[in-house]
Amino acid sequence: MNCRTLKDIEMRGKRVIVRVDFNVPLDSKSKITDETRILKTLPTIQYLVKQKARVILMSHLGRPKGKQDSELSLKPVADRLSKLLKQPVKFIPDCIGEKVKTLITSLKDGEVALLENLRFYREEEKNDPGFSKSLASLAEIYVNDAFGAAHRAHASTAGIAQFLPSAAGLLLAKEIEYFDRVLGNPERPFVAILGGAKVVDKIKVIENLMAKVDYLLIGGAMAYTFLKARGHKIGSSKFDFEGFETAKQVLEKAKQTKVQFLLPVDHLIAETVTENAKVDTAEIDIPEGWIGVDIGPKTTERFQAVIAKAKTIIWNGPLGVFEIKKFSNGTRQIAESLARLKNATTVIGGGETAAAITELGLESKMSHVSTGGGASLEYLEGRVLPGIAALENKGDKIKEDKSGKSKLTEANKQKVSQ
Ligand code: 3PG
Repeated sequence: MNCRTLKDIEMRGKRVIVRVDFNVPLDSKSKITDETRILKTLPTIQYLVKQKARVILMSHLGRPKGKQDSELSLKPVADRLSKLLKQPVKFIPDCIGEKVKTLITSLKDGEVALLENLRFYREEEKNDPGFSKSLASLAEIYVNDAFGAAHRAHASTAGIAQFLPSAAGLLLAKEIEYFDRVLGNPERPFVAILGGAKVVDKIKVIENLMAKVDYLLIGGAMAYTFLKARGHKIGSSKFDFEGFETAKQVLEKAKQTKVQFLLPVDHLIAETVTENAKVDTAEIDIPEGWIGVDIGPKTTERFQAVIAKAKTIIWNGPLGVFEIKKFSNGTRQIAESLARLKNATTVIGGGETAAAITELGLESKMSHVSTGGGASLEYLEGRVLPGIAALENKGDKIKEDKSGKSKLTEANKQKVSQ
């Protein structure tokens, strides 16, 4: 990454506005059901508190589309954060304006405040310069730690960087460091595991990774579209009609490269996609009336053999219908084989895959589990994320990298892993 991290800036006594991604799931009683994203931001917040900065946190929550919505208030997050930080977090019931300014002015060194949901203003998603400026006017320094929202060119993720000295937070820097390590300079063999429902959703990732990896292991519902493209029977399995031609082209392209493109050779099949469904296993062709719901035991073994010799692995997308316990074995067994690796870099894309790894209690066994769903997907597609580009285009510490990728300078890398 060609930009500063927060450790490069003197923070003592400064008002620092930090974009975090506190877009966490809430239940009907506004209780947070997965606080991973809050936990992962703690190092940045604690660092700033220790430096005696005056910390102003801002985030979006859900998609209120420019309207106030009490169900999408960040107040429950402020309460939870107070407990996690073991210090009060002042909740500010708005994010711009004179009242907010006054409340922020009263912050003392080492104190923390959280602004109300940025997306209560339409201007946030429009990357409105006036809105960016209003947010910037609350602080002296801008830190972006919201990797999960870095693929959005919004006022708080991109626009604001034009108005303040800016730097990456520790989480953002760590995310970039791991993604760049695997995409830019992977130790080989390099294996990508891709699951998910639709070929079209993953096509750009497949194309980008096909040029880089040694093995591409495909599972999840999109595997059935690829198998059909190879002339196999897929019964009543999910078929991505829209992605069928693309799947054929990908298979053709794979033949022309040295990539080993591995599809399932057997399956767990079910009569319906329900917990109580009748299940069976099938060889590569799935009989009429049956639905592929997970990779089968032979496929698992085949994938595990590839994983055992890998030095770098990137994984995005569960390999079966993970949310139904009886269809989750393939994903679990593959996750466990990643966890057993001793000398490999294992990076897990965010969203469903990260949730599966957390649910399996294997997070600490992976090199990195991303907090970004859409953001990690776009990064794997090889796209430049606006939230990162905005920090890089600040003029200071910029070093052109021919690959166009975001690279942490060596000095910063050391700081981030400290
Ligand atoms: C996410 O959950 O992927 C991020 O917080 C971005 O949310 P969005 O898709 O609503 O922009």
